[in-house]
Amino acid sequence: MKTPGLIQETDGEWTRRNFLVRGSGGMAAAMAVGACLGVIPGEPAMGANGADPVPAIDPGYIGPQYFDQAEESALREVVESGSPFRYWGPGKPRKVQQFEDAFARHMGVRLALGVTSGTAALDCAMAALGVGPGDEVIVPSYTWWSDYTCVVHSGALPVFAEIDGSLNLDPRDFERKITARTKAVIAVHLLGGPCDLDPILEIARRRGIKVVEDCAQCVGGSYRGKPLGSLGDVGIYSFQINKMMTSGEGGALVTNDSLLYERAVRFHDMGSIRSLFLERLGGTSQGQVFAGENFRMNEFTGAVLGAQLPKLDTMVTAMRGHAAAVLDGIRDLPGIRLRKYPDPAGDIGYAVYFETSGRAARDQAIEGLKQRKIPASTLTGSVLLPTDEAVVQKRTRHPAWPSFTSPEGRAMKYGPEVCPQTLGVYDRFVQVRMGPKYTRRITDHIVQSIREVHAGLG
Ligand SMILES: Cc1ncc(COP(=O)(O)O)c(C=O)c1O
Repeated sequence: MKTPGLIQETDGEWTRRNFLVRGSGGMAAAMAVGACLGVIPGEPAMGANGADPVPAIDPGYIGPQYFDQAEESALREVVESGSPFRYWGPGKPRKVQQFEDAFARHMGVRLALGVTSGTAALDCAMAALGVGPGDEVIVPSYTWWSDYTCVVHSGALPVFAEIDGSLNLDPRDFERKITARTKAVIAVHLLGGPCDLDPILEIARRRGIKVVEDCAQCVGGSYRGKPLGSLGDVGIYSFQINKMMTSGEGGALVTNDSLLYERAVRFHDMGSIRSLFLERLGGTSQGQVFAGENFRMNEFTGAVLGAQLPKLDTMVTAMRGHAAAVLDGIRDLPGIRLRKYPDPAGDIGYAVYFETSGRAARDQAIEGLKQRKIPASTLTGSVLLPTDEAVVQKRTRHPAWPSFTSPEGRAMKYGPEVCPQTLGVYDRFVQVRMGPKYTRRITDHIVQSIREVHAGLG
């Protein structure tokens, strides 16, 4: 029989009892169990009776669990070359350039640009599309700050649309929020799951609206067999530590459109365009210098990303496999409502989600799962933007700049009334994180725990 709160092995190799008596004790035993369970060894958590050390299941950071000699030797090459700057140096730096070429191939697009973060990539996307004062950009009500700040910093107005049971943009509400001023929509693939791109693209094309795919939380995901980021006008990615492949910080932008690429390149590099980008564009420039930023990626970052990229499919396959095992183990539960997957095959398995009747039931489920050492929580990693005080107050870097001083900006209202559906979704969903190195025993334990907790919800 399984004891709630303890992770027991079914083959007798590591029962609670032999965990306590085997091995050389202390950290060695904790590490052995940690390794066996796919857990990052750390502070042992206490068992249900308050006495037994039982490691909590910890998904860990994904990309770093795949760091090996590939990252090490790529970094060493940069150190030895003395060329950490991507454009010149004694050692003919090529790491970022090679990463961009490989990333474009991987994502099935013509052109990729490495930048300093996903936030920088979004700023480049807004600059590429020429979004500015007088424009509106539609953004999901639950997403990361950068989808809002890139619009604000461009001088345009963020307009929030609801999310639905896919935890992503509700295509119907996206259409409802379109006005004559809508220039773009940021179609975010949040929490490892692709948003429903078919209707979003159809509506956007019909209404002449540009689509930015934000793949920051879904690097390596796909939609109807195509890599995320390759379907909209521009795709952006983040390589920050919480994402799939990582260099600690970093980002990329992809597109098939030469003019959008040139504008993104210029914006990321003080308005200029260097010869390597001109070569990628067939030798012709369609633009002129304009006021840009410095979002250039350095060679250390390019080196790590170049080593991580060949491992991305392995990471995704592992995560997907664990999520599928858990979903398969719970989908027969009477009354269970899982996250809606517009394309289940494209999900990267970041976590498994189920819906409860409301905040009280959600919190009860999370508490029950935590008692069983399961990494359960509310939806994480993003913000209910329309209800955030800084958004409600339209606080920007200067009271007269940028977006909110126009008549439309002054008329724009934020607050909970903007997104009742999103607030309801947020209040109902439970998240259970997956880790790439989980074992069958861990996914079985998660399945068993969800079944027990779900039965208790009534
Ligand atoms: C959906 C989404 N978009 C954009 C970003 C920005 O990425 P970065 O942290 O690399 O700036 C994040 C980061 O968490 C994100 O979650």
